[in-house]
Formats: sequence, C-alpha cells, structure tokens
Amino acid sequence: MKTLDEFIVEKQQDFPHATGELTALLSAIKLGAKIIHRDISKAGLLDILGSHGANNIQGEVQMKLDLYANNIFKAALKARGQVAGFASEEEENIVIFEGERAEKARYVVLMDPLDGSSNIDVNVSVGSIFSIYRRITPIGQSVSEKDFLQPGSAQVAAGYVVYGSSTMLVYTTGCGVHAFTYDPSLGVFCLSHEKVIYPSSGCLYSINEGNSIQFPLGVKKYIQYCQEEDADTQRPYNSRYIGSLVADFHRNLLKGGIYIYPNTTYHPEGKLRLLYECNPMAFLAEQAGGKASNGSHRILDITPETLHQRSPFFVGTESMVKDSERFMTLYPNQ
Ligand code: AHG
Ligand code: MN
Ligand code: MN
Repeated sequence: MKTLDEFIVEKQQDFPHATGELTALLSAIKLGAKIIHRDISKAGLLDILGSHGANNIQGEVQMKLDLYANNIFKAALKARGQVAGFASEEEENIVIFEGERAEKARYVVLMDPLDGSSNIDVNVSVGSIFSIYRRITPIGQSVSEKDFLQPGSAQVAAGYVVYGSSTMLVYTTGCGVHAFTYDPSLGVFCLSHEKVIYPSSGCLYSINEGNSIQFPLGVKKYIQYCQEEDADTQRPYNSRYIGSLVADFHRNLLKGGIYIYPNTTYHPEGKLRLLYECNPMAFLAEQAGGKASNGSHRILDITPETLHQRSPFFVGTESMVKDSERFMTLYPNQ
C-alpha cells in the first residue's frame, strides 16, 4: 500500500530542484478533502444540507455546503503558507492571503469547492476541483487578478476529489494522472490507480438532454449520431448523466466516454466555469490521453479575461471529442 504522501515524496525525487512547497500545498487540499468527506458522510444528521439563503456572484443558489467547503479549503490553504492567493466559484473577488509566508509563496489556487450542488441533498456524488498556477507577479509584491487569469496550459497541478461510494482524490502535475482512494479507518489516501489512461474507445455520452431544444445544431446532430446503430463503432452509445461534473468526468475517464455542456439559449457562453471547472478537468483529460475542447478550440489554449468566465465544454475520450468537433464544424453558427 502506498499513501498519497509517500507517492508525492517519491515523485519529488525526480525533480532535484523541488522545494517541497507543492507537496505541502497538496497536503492542504488533502486535509480539506478529509474534513468534507467526514461531514458529507453525515450530511443528513448535521445542519449542512439545503440552501444558504443567498445567491453567489453568478446568481446561482448557494447551498450551505458550497460555502462550508469554500471556507474549509480557504482556511486549509491559508494555514500552510504555501499559497499567495485563492479564487473560487463562491468568492466574488480573488482572496489575497496576508502574512510574511504568503507574500513569498509561489502559488495561487483556484477552486470549485463543491461541485454538483444540486445533488447534495439527495445523497448523490459531489466533488471538489482544484487548479494550481505559479504566480507571475514577482515575490514581494501582492498577487493580483492577472496571476489567476493565465491560460490553462500554465497549470502546475490540477485535480479533483470525488465523494462517491468511496472518496477518491485524482490529480496530475503534468506527469500522468494518479488516483488515490480514501481509507477512512486509517485517515489516509492510498494509491489505487497509477497512470490512469482513457480506454482507447468509449461508448458513453453525458449531456443534460432536457436542454436539447436549446443546443447548437452541431451538438443535436452529434447526439443523433451517438444514438444511431452501427456495430463497428459500438453505437448506439449509452447515455449517463449524473449532473455533477466531477462524477460524470470520473466515470467517463475510467470507462471511456464524452461529457458535453454546450452553450445553450439559457447559457449562451456555456454553464461551466473556465477557471474552476474546465481548465483543471482539461489538464487531467489530456494527461490521461483524452481531449478537451470548447467545440472548436483546445480549452487549455484559451486566455481567460475574467475570473468567472464560462465556456462550452466537450471533454473525454479523444476520438469522441474529435467526432463532436467534426459535427460542430459541419453545422456552424446554428
Ligand atoms: P456547481 O455545483 O459547482 O455549480 O456545478 C454544477 C455544474 C456541474 O457540476 C454539472 O455537470 C452541471 O452544473 C449540471 O448542470 P445542469 O443541472 O444544468 O445539467
Ligand atoms: Mn461545479
Ligand atoms: Mn460549485
């Protein structure tokens, strides 16, 4: 059995100039995940379900657990002193950590602290997503928004925690994707899947088909294609949609599939957030041999303009994402 800490230390030895800061940072995320795991597993017994009674900056209902998870991760990251600043789906502005250590810290962290809010109250898998960048503002100066508005290709590390039938932490630092399953009796994450790679072909598609009427024509045509019979390509594909990006992504990563949240009439820019959801998942997907696109361009090449920017998102098995892009090109602007 190899724990997450042992694995990270082992990997660090491949980088002689590593300072251990990133290791400490990941450890803070691990601590936050353990706390949230503990509380989610007792959610029906604690007063943490339901709405908080307010909306976030994006006008979405904030659940109690959204805010709770945000505060847990923010505090855990601040305490370690490895992070100069924090941005989150639940915070209107970036949070600059103060203090001597934070001012010298080399990293900024962006998070979707609790993904899949609509599933919290009904005991269905939710997750937490993180994305880590090296600051570009020189050490000694306060970090600013520009440290957070880097293209996804500049990510140093990214990952997620899925709180499912077991809790699992999945991450990449650009050397493959590794997954660790939490053993609550020991309080440790144990390596369960090393170098995760998408199966070479997939036969799952995940999209909220209730919104079909609002989809671009290319997406409608691609879904028709998924539903057609063709033995050579194992179609029709199976439809699977949980409504928690983390859980849908995780299943498709292990089984082979595509997840799509396109632009719709209601969400003309797409619903998912580029910085907190698309970029980290795109980094993981590519590291696992998959692909992530906004329908025409690589997600990781987009230079963000605003913190809470949204994007259409097509992610998963490479051949499936390529097929979907082909349909988007065949039926443009409709
Ligand atoms: P969040 O809970 O962080 O706001 O994210 C919800 C996202 C994503 O997890 C999920 O795939 C998608 O919204 C579901 O949206 P629909 O309910 O519109 O399908
Ligand atoms: Mn989310
Ligand atoms: Mn969220």
